[in-house]
Amino acid sequence: MNYTEPHVPTPEDIIPTMLSLASVKPDESVFDLGSGDARIVIFAARDFHARAVGVETRKRLVKASRQKIRELGLSDRAKITCRNFKKVSLRKVDVLCTYLSSYTLNLLTPKFAKELRSGVRIVNFDYPIPAWKATKEIEVVPAGWKKPHSIYLYVVPAVQAD
Ligand SMILES: C[S@@+](CC[C@H](N)C(=O)[O-])C[C@H]1O[C@@H](n2cnc3c(N)ncnc32)[C@H](O)[C@@H]1O
Repeated sequence: MNYTEPHVPTPEDIIPTMLSLASVKPDESVFDLGSGDARIVIFAARDFHARAVGVETRKRLVKASRQKIRELGLSDRAKITCRNFKKVSLRKVDVLCTYLSSYTLNLLTPKFAKELRSGVRIVNFDYPIPAWKATKEIEVVPAGWKKPHSIYLYVVPAVQAD
């Protein structure tokens, strides 16, 4: 995977909707692959009382995220791993909450199929997983955006797309 996802943050006002769509429960393990400035990780830990892990390669974002987590007093339930998400085990994940392109989601699909346990929920903003049929799709209009955008939910094992 030579293509690198740019850092484009998820609009903050739709993150609770994403986490609610995934039915995140206290103490569940929530991962954001490509966690950017940790906004999803922080919402998951602070507002949903999950154990949240962000995986991010950009060192500047990792440093800023860790500092924010410390300042918010969330270090006991939120952490950022400075690694390539292709190399991180997903075997203990309960929920994946991400903002990744369909290109990257397509490359990650064999890893999802191999490592994610039955019942794991995946929510992604704006882009579907091409090979899988979404369990649910909802439309949101983030604050300041003009048009509706989709949030896709998948429950493992996913149904193949037609
Ligand atoms: C579209 S942004 C989403 C950021 C954050 N999840 C959010 O929703 O606000 C994608 C992020 O993935 C990170 N990224 C790209 N490729 C990566 C990789 N292979 N491993 C870890 N992080 C990666 C980028 O640095 C960027 O911060």
